Amino acid sequence: MSEETKDVQNVNAARRVFLKSLLAGSALIVLESFNKNTIVSALAATSNQNANFPKFSAVYSPGMGYPQSVVSGDPTDSGAILWTRVDPSIAAGISGTQYDPGLVKWMQQPSSQVNPSVKDAIEAGQFVMFEVSETEDFSNPVLSGFAPIWKDFDNIVKVDVDGFLQPRTQYAYRFITKSGYVSKTGRFKTLPAAGADTTNVKFAYVSCDDYTNGYYNALRFLANEDLDFVVHLGDYVYESVGDPNYQNPLPDRQISLPSNQSKAFTIDDYRTIYRTYRSDADLQKMHETHAMIAIWDDHEFANDCYYPAIAPDDSPNSSPSRRLTANQVWFEYMPARVTFDASKGFEDSIQIYRNVKIGNLVELIMTDERLYRSSHPCGEGLVDERYFTSGCDKMNDPMQTMLGTGESSQKEWFLSTLKSSTAVWKIWGNEVQYAPLMLLGKYLNLDAWDGFAWERQSITNELKTAGVRNLIAITGDLHTFEANLIKSDYQNDADSEAVGVEFMVGSVTSSNLKEMLVQAVSGRLSNSDPIPSSIMKKITGQLLGPFTVLTDAAINTVIDQLSNVVLMENPWIKLFNSSTHGYSIFELTKNKATWTAYTVSTIKSKQASKSLLWQCEVPRDEAAINIIKG
Ligand SMILES: [Fe+2]
Repeated sequence: MSEETKDVQNVNAARRVFLKSLLAGSALIVLESFNKNTIVSALAATSNQNANFPKFSAVYSPGMGYPQSVVSGDPTDSGAILWTRVDPSIAAGISGTQYDPGLVKWMQQPSSQVNPSVKDAIEAGQFVMFEVSETEDFSNPVLSGFAPIWKDFDNIVKVDVDGFLQPRTQYAYRFITKSGYVSKTGRFKTLPAAGADTTNVKFAYVSCDDYTNGYYNALRFLANEDLDFVVHLGDYVYESVGDPNYQNPLPDRQISLPSNQSKAFTIDDYRTIYRTYRSDADLQKMHETHAMIAIWDDHEFANDCYYPAIAPDDSPNSSPSRRLTANQVWFEYMPARVTFDASKGFEDSIQIYRNVKIGNLVELIMTDERLYRSSHPCGEGLVDERYFTSGCDKMNDPMQTMLGTGESSQKEWFLSTLKSSTAVWKIWGNEVQYAPLMLLGKYLNLDAWDGFAWERQSITNELKTAGVRNLIAITGDLHTFEANLIKSDYQNDADSEAVGVEFMVGSVTSSNLKEMLVQAVSGRLSNSDPIPSSIMKKITGQLLGPFTVLTDAAINTVIDQLSNVVLMENPWIKLFNSSTHGYSIFELTKNKATWTAYTVSTIKSKQASKSLLWQCEVPRDEAAINIIKG
């Protein structure tokens, strides 16, 4: 038996013992560790043992010592992942090399055999105490315990309390160090019990928050919504921080990387980016209020990336160690219930695609459209190859894959999960646009599903044959709000039956097409342009004729014209707006799904207002978009 298998068995056994203890009402301590870089849930002691440990108490004002505040994620019907990062200057944490496999063994035997190294580490302040409570005063926590501060993982704490809480309940949580530094209080809701009759689920989703490009006003408004959870569809960070010589980050939102480069290449670079993004007060507020379920898109590694670990803007060659680094830092910072093992290489080190069942009403299926995908079908050149291109035969090549091929591939998992789902609504967390996007007779973006047309059609065919109903794809990436029908045959019959719907959310802050038009004219760029500036210039020229200067009025005309052309050329696209930023909310009931898109008045100042952009309804058992407001 391998050491790893033994560890897994130990942990499973530990969990069983813990559950027994919990039922007996005596479980008081939960320990969590990064065993072999894998999150290992483990267990408990009796109240007698608890007496062996000091209870840490708050001394300083909440938040001091936790520069990235607190985050929760991947809620279940009995818990969530809780996350924080402790400032290394107040607690050094425990190194992986100090990790003692006796920890798990100790937890299997919750009698008197307290592992001395664990006790020593707790007493040395290398663990934080965590508390989960139904009330905000923590007078009677339902769960408390100690979790290691992982020195080798940027002083991060990650605790999985799955299995320990009640369904559909709001909880408060916080962390306290031995020296009395207490985090702010975070909140999250557990999900309805698996399979339980559920009448409503409400969640928000966002994507693309380039820190350097604007303020997170959308996230501040989002924090005030009453939700079950938030979904993040990727581009949570951007690997590029910009070159001030030709880019234009807001003066108070510039990031300089330890390597002094304009893009992240090293582990310190990627960590600096996540730390900086998470220092934002509005992002913190959103995390302190809601649990998040996240997948990555390309920028958590590099723009337009594909298999095997290729970042085409930086090198035509594979960069496995850079990809592995990006995977590790994502794993460190995201509150996701996934494991990471660097020894397995970039491809197998992590698997982020996963599904979440929410009562009997919703199943959320989150896919990874970057780690396994093929190169761009018509070449890696920007103009006429990746973007604004007439296309090429390879788009329809069965070898061209977004999800990965083979028997145990993500694609097989995705199709079988969808087909076997018993939930009313199947929500597909889909990173890039599924519906075709033609503009002036060309494909605007072959980095999206248009570049994988054969695979798109094969997925649609399978769903149609299997009679999968009530499929809603939620999409990010293009920094645009859209409402699209998923047609059974886009290529040959635009009037073909719809098999599902797709709702794209605009970006939180990343450049939209309107901002890109302005940049194309001024010769400036941003870190988050979804389409190269030269192409926006070309499109503008074709819509407007030759130009040298664009007035505000002319820019509005061009963007209106562009939207009209998109709606005319792509009859499956019912709504299209790439002039604003914001977030979207889905409210699901047994009879209908209601989609609401909210926009913010500006991202260039913190003084902003929020307004309704559109609202649509999708009736149950009809793949249709009924526009209610818009
Ligand atoms: Fe983006």
